[in-house]
Amino acid sequence: MAKPLVLIVNGPNLNMLGKRQPEVYGHQTLADIETAAAAHAESLGLDMEFHQSNHEGDLVDWIQGARGRAAGIILNAGAYTHTSVALLDALNAAEVVCVEVHLSNIHQREEFRHHSFVSKAAKGMICGFGSHGYILALDALARLIKES
Ligand code: DQA
Repeated sequence: MAKPLVLIVNGPNLNMLGKRQPEVYGHQTLADIETAAAAHAESLGLDMEFHQSNHEGDLVDWIQGARGRAAGIILNAGAYTHTSVALLDALNAAEVVCVEVHLSNIHQREEFRHHSFVSKAAKGMICGFGSHGYILALDALARLIKES
């Protein structure tokens, strides 16, 4: 039987992880996160696709493409979290359960990071745990998928 598919979608500047403000985002690269997430997804009996783009439309396309195909989405939309109605609309159109992830605790940071458009369509949000947040999100999704 095919395993449920989870999409992990990463937004702008997350390709710079490891180099980018390590005091905020940690020392792990996005490739390190992908490797750890792939191993964890496998252990949970999930298939995983991992994406990153600096372009909002690419994120919209991946989210739309999840409809009827993926069992869940883990989304770290980077700065588009705080600006993008298009991502919110895409999540609502996809009708796929979404867990929002941020490496940093966005509520301890600048005021403009406190609001998330993505949260309106997400089942829940994990923030402040660095790269481990992706592992926590996979655990949360695996349970939601099993229950559904
Ligand atoms: C981020 C938080 C956002 O505010 C920021 O724009 C990012 C990364 C995080 O993972 O902590 O690019 O989503």
